[in-house]
This record gives sequence, structure tokens and C-alpha cells, in this order.
Amino acid sequence: MELVFTKVETEEVANLAQLASEIWYEYFVSIISKEQIDYMVEKFQSTNAITEQIQNQGYEYYFMNMSGKNIGYLGVKQEEGKLFLSKFYILKEHRGRGYASRAMEFLVDICQKRRLSTIWLTVNRYNDATIAVYEKKGFRTVRTQVADIGNGFVMDDYIMEKEIDLNEK
Ligand SMILES: CC(C)(COP(=O)(O)OP(=O)(O)OC[C@H]1O[C@@H](n2cnc3c(N)ncnc32)[C@H](O)[C@@H]1OP(=O)(O)O)[C@@H](O)C(=O)NCCC(=O)NCCS
Repeated sequence: MELVFTKVETEEVANLAQLASEIWYEYFVSIISKEQIDYMVEKFQSTNAITEQIQNQGYEYYFMNMSGKNIGYLGVKQEEGKLFLSKFYILKEHRGRGYASRAMEFLVDICQKRRLSTIWLTVNRYNDATIAVYEKKGFRTVRTQVADIGNGFVMDDYIMEKEIDLNEK
């Protein structure tokens, strides 16, 4: 079975928002409060928020599709010489099977084609399992960041970076 990456078009954003909500409530419940998840899902992953990100803020979203089912998604933003990996989420029952490694190859390929020498991301400081995945895939922590996201909530993150070898192919 093949994992494919398909760019999310405007008419699919509602499906993406549904997938995002399912994963965020399942996963973040052990890391952040239910109130903060409510707030973040609405602010960052609602249909309106994602549509705005795609149409006006330079974000691109991709479904990870396996045999016709969307099992995860990626959100990226191209910056000056860098790729910001903004979202990276896989449904619980599909984790641990190497699909994130496949997604990393997809991202490295984007970087090589567009001549972007770094992928960077933010990850919650208490999200240990995911930090371990990023370290395994060649990211290193460059600094910590506390971002005020409004309504009394903060995001307590590490910023991690991975260098991309642009001479590979
Ligand atoms: C983070 C996430 C996308 C990773 O996907 P995954 O399916 O679990 O990862 P994979 O099975 O593809 O594993 C990726 C690599 O990390 C390694 N790995 C997985 N768990 C690991 C751990 N705890 N410690 C060290 N390495 C680990 C795997 O061996 C694999 O390495 P390899 O292919 O180079 O041998 C997924 O777990 C997820 O959606 N998590 C919840 C949401 C989340 O935290 N998203 C990121 C927000 S910043």
C-alpha cells in the first residue's frame, strides 16, 4: 500500500479541519488543558483559520493518504531559504509505522526542489515522544520559546531545526 501526499484544496479544508480536531483532542489531552485545546483548535485549525492561512498567509497543507483514506496531514510555509513545518499530525492508529519518516522524505524533496536549506518547527516542550522522533530524523533544538497566544494561554515550545543537504541530488 502506498502513502501519497495530496495538496489540500479549498473545498477539502472542512475535511482537514475535522481530521485536525480528531487528532488534537485525542493527543494533546495529556499535555495541555481541554480549554487550551478548544482555543487552539478554533484559532489555528478551524475551517476559517486554515482557509485564511492558505489563501493569505502562504501556508500549504497536504493530506497523507493511504488507500483513499486521509491518515494524517502536514502544514508547511515556505520562507526565505527555509521551510517552516507548522503542522505534522498522524491519526493514532497509524502511528509507529514509518509514515512520519516517509513524510520527512517528502519534505526534504520539497526543500531540494525549492533550494531551501533548513526545515524548522516548534514543538511543545513536554511532547517527549515527538521530540524523540524529530531528533531521530535529524532535528536539533536551537532555543526555547514561550508564545502568548491570547486568552491567558501560552505555548511552551522548543524550536528545532534540520539542515538539508542541497547537493544530494
Ligand atoms: C509525531 C508523529 C507525526 C510521528 O509519526 P510516527 O508515525 O509516530 O513516526 P514513525 O513511525 O514514522 O517514526 C519516525 C522515526 O522516528 C523513530 N521513532 C519513533 N518513536 C521514537 C522514539 N520514541 N524514540 C526514538 N525514535 C523514535 C522511528 O524509529 C522512525 O525512525 P526511522 O524511520 O528513521 O527508523 C506522530 O507520532 C504524531 O502524529 N504524534 C502526535 C501529534 C504530534 O505530536 N505532532 C507533532 C506536533 S509538533
